[in-house]
Amino acid sequence: DWKMDEFAKQSIEKLREKIGDKKVLCALSGGVDSSVAAVMIHKAVGKNLTCIFVDHGLLRKNEGDEVEKTFKEKFDMNLIRVNAQDRFLGKLKGVSDPETKRKIIGEEFIRVFEQEAKKIGKVDYLVQGTIYPDVIESGTGDAAVIKSHHNVGGLPDYVDFKEIVEPLRDLFKDEVRKVGLELGIPEFLVWRQPFPGPGLAIRIIGDITEEKIKTLQDADFIFRDELAKAGYDKNVHQYFAVLTNMRSVGVMGDGRTYDYTLALRAVTTNDFMTADWAKIPYDILESASNRIINEVKNINRIVYDITSKPPATIEWE
Ligand code: XMP
Repeated sequence: DWKMDEFAKQSIEKLREKIGDKKVLCALSGGVDSSVAAVMIHKAVGKNLTCIFVDHGLLRKNEGDEVEKTFKEKFDMNLIRVNAQDRFLGKLKGVSDPETKRKIIGEEFIRVFEQEAKKIGKVDYLVQGTIYPDVIESGTGDAAVIKSHHNVGGLPDYVDFKEIVEPLRDLFKDEVRKVGLELGIPEFLVWRQPFPGPGLAIRIIGDITEEKIKTLQDADFIFRDELAKAGYDKNVHQYFAVLTNMRSVGVMGDGRTYDYTLALRAVTTNDFMTADWAKIPYDILESASNRIINEVKNINRIVYDITSKPPATIEWE
């Protein structure tokens, strides 16, 4: 895409002029926007950029390692990964209310980031992966908060810096993706489906334990793997597994089981404000279900979510 290639080249040149040899800090989540913003700044100023990647232990299977590997090895970036699972799990222990989970994770995230940022000392610029739709939306303001969103955008108050740089401010999502590809960011990151800031915490209904996280990671991985293998992943905009807090009776061999019910969720949508449940072919659901039951412990029943948004939301919490 020559237009986006041109955009990327010019932006990098301008960023280099603007930033010069000053220090830049970035909160990296592994999401498309923050990844593209970070790589763009990296191309402009190299090692003067430091990225902090807070791993709250609630990412999808292998995700933390993949993000770290990509940015450290492929781009040779100055990346600090903070493995903070114990901290987050400690704060979340016994908590099952969805909004409380969100608040705890949002606050803890800022605290961890702040602590790491302090070690770096004063920086001149903070990178934000703001894109054009964020710029328009922030003007409106919803009347009722349905879910308090957490993402890596809201940090400026907590870090000592002079100015924010937002290299993607004028771009729509599809343009961000094109720029990402031009910059050599791997497809799996560029085409990543949206993933909520609080991560798997809001896909585990009820209280969160390390074991539940592992169970959900494994089941979710299989569901995504089966969709991808069937070549159906490009037809749905978001798809994941939810570990419900409900157990039911099943039978395995000669024995009775009493285990968790897993829900599979997949939607098609243009803007994530409304969404339809995806009409995934039965054979894909079947192979996902069989594999999950066979390969993942603690699950003995699988259901498919057939509600649209509204009245349901995409996430369960
Ligand atoms: P709901 O569940 O409200 O989700 O229909 C709409 C979209 O937003 C994503 N989502 C979040 N994204 N931080 C985020 O960055 C959050 O706290 C958050 N909560 C929900 C959700 O995955 C879906 O794409």
